[in-house]
Amino acid sequence: MKRAVYPGSFDPVTFGHLDVIHRAANIFDELTVSVLNNVGKSALFSVEERVKMLKEAVSDLPNVTVDSFSGLLINYAKSKDIHVVVRGLRAITDFEYELQIAQTNHKLSGGELDTMFLTTSLEYAYLSSSSVKEIACFNGDVSPCVPDFVAKELYCKYHH
Ligand code: PNS
Repeated sequence: MKRAVYPGSFDPVTFGHLDVIHRAANIFDELTVSVLNNVGKSALFSVEERVKMLKEAVSDLPNVTVDSFSGLLINYAKSKDIHVVVRGLRAITDFEYELQIAQTNHKLSGGELDTMFLTTSLEYAYLSSSSVKEIACFNGDVSPCVPDFVAKELYCKYHH
């Protein structure tokens, strides 16, 4: 049974994340998408809201579960007996940051945790949760970026 974890902030989930999730779900038997509960980073949506949106977005994928974690990813992965991390790469600019995290996790885990990168489909390469939030904040159209129910939640946060 090949299992993997796809960790992230998912504030909120975008079509770019969903592209990575769909592709990873085809490669692994079980994929756990896990929201980082990061006390140091201010998020627009609470962890519970982010988990709820992710659950709705992956409800058609039977081998994908949604969870949250705090602390170090290596400890979380170990507690779930998962040895592979999945991350998406949009552009070369993501690479340095991702390489550092992947190498740190590999070292800290004593070689127990490896990271696999999926290159995001070109049509989503421009997407980021930050730009989606900015577009929604200024009343722009986020429909090409996120599922409809996420768009509603975004407008609700900014313009309720
Ligand atoms: O979506 P993001 O914010 O780019 O995801 C970053 C994430 C969650 C993958 C990364 O910050 C993480 O794994 N944090 C948990 C803390 C940790 O394990 N740090 C050690 C690696 S540097």
